[in-house]
Amino acid sequence: MAGESLHTMGQQHGRRSWAEPWKIKMVEPLRVTTRAERNAALSEAGYNTFLLRSDDVYIDLLTDSGTSAMSDRQWAGMMLGDEAYAGSRNFYHLEEAVQRYYGYRHVVPTHQGRGAEHLISQTLIKAGDHVPGNMYFTTTRLHQELAGATFHDVIVDVAHDAAAIHPFKGDIDLDKLGALIDEVGADRIPYVSLAGTVNMAGGQPVSMANVRALRALCDRHGIKLMLDATRMVENALFIQEREAGYADQSIAQILLEFCSYTDGAWMSAKKDNLVNIGGWLAVNDDDVFEELRNLVVVYEGLHTYGGLAGRDMEALAIGIAEAVQDEHVRSRVGQVRYLGELLTEWGIPIVQPIGGHAIFLDARRFYAHLEQDLFPAQTLAAELYLDSGIRSMERGIASAGRDPGTGDHHRPKLELTRLTIPRRVYTQAHMDVVAESVKACFDARESARGLRMVYEPKYLRFFQARFEPT
Ligand code: F0G
Repeated sequence: MAGESLHTMGQQHGRRSWAEPWKIKMVEPLRVTTRAERNAALSEAGYNTFLLRSDDVYIDLLTDSGTSAMSDRQWAGMMLGDEAYAGSRNFYHLEEAVQRYYGYRHVVPTHQGRGAEHLISQTLIKAGDHVPGNMYFTTTRLHQELAGATFHDVIVDVAHDAAAIHPFKGDIDLDKLGALIDEVGADRIPYVSLAGTVNMAGGQPVSMANVRALRALCDRHGIKLMLDATRMVENALFIQEREAGYADQSIAQILLEFCSYTDGAWMSAKKDNLVNIGGWLAVNDDDVFEELRNLVVVYEGLHTYGGLAGRDMEALAIGIAEAVQDEHVRSRVGQVRYLGELLTEWGIPIVQPIGGHAIFLDARRFYAHLEQDLFPAQTLAAELYLDSGIRSMERGIASAGRDPGTGDHHRPKLELTRLTIPRRVYTQAHMDVVAESVKACFDARESARGLRMVYEPKYLRFFQARFEPT
């Protein structure tokens, strides 16, 4: 009877919540620190959340990279590691999983995403080439530049406007791409670098219509189309929800169709694929594969392990299949949305629409009184840590680095602080605590003074730079 009345109550309110398609079998205690302890830790870390010890962190939203919880199946798979130097059976499981769910013919394992970026950049790019992409990602662009290319951002303009609502802010602007082809010539563009979803734009998706049109444009000019598939599963959910004709297709079907328009992909398996370490490269072209398979031996390891243990490849193969389950993706992105909707309700400026893997606080509007050279997003990450021990990440002027030509800061329009949600790790109650801490920082926003950079490493400076309060 009680069950029946609950059921009727649900219907009266018309409410049907989603919930995680799993329950928790093992827990890890969290440590709560005092404000004085956090003050000392932050100062020792040079006001850079990358330099904090994780023992001093309460809720860790630095990244969704390698921070997911593996399933009982994946842990069981770890026990089935075949640690042979060559031809491990786990490699063949990984190869089959990539072929089946992403649809590419050839697979090369790597230790993580940037290992794959390094190999593909060295293989396809010649000095003096140009690589267009939808916004940029830090390590992706650096590997393209180190291989001798100049990177060009050809994402739609709306992606640079944090407040603008648009269903596919990750799309490439075909006119911008066309203009670049006219300017430098198709023979100087080895490939278009397409990421789904776009991390630096706020986890924004690319539409199926866009990738289809890109395929046609690339075919006309003989240019390859390469995919950063790191968060492509999340991209598939947005297509299912927002693009006409896809509501009844599964995430797995959408993923396979999207990839079919591209010539290959690199992957940080530490995200979508639900493992703590791993990556892969996949291509259709036999000759490109031959070269990659040779180069991987130089930098990563033999082509049947690429820097991974057999057990890691097994967990990865299982993670790939789990990652494309509709209920998994819905609850993963649902949790991100839960946090984003709370913050939106409270009038806190975040990137809209809410993206797939993180909430991006708009530090330009949050700290309207701080100019960009005072590192507003870095400041917000520091303040949030001081308030509650929550760790976030800067995605603004520090992350953007310097123009290799002029040596001046890149000054991106987006000055963001990222609250990145690991997969299958935190609960809705944790999200409430996070939202309340952001609100406390927002209420105290006027007292923020900004930071100055006192140490700047040469490559990917945001990881190791040090700051001081102004
Ligand atoms: N591509 C994208 C879109 C990424 O977000 C990342 C990593 C990489 C490539 C590189 O992969 O870390 O396995 O070497 N992003 C992490 C982040 C670090 O926090 O967003 P990796």
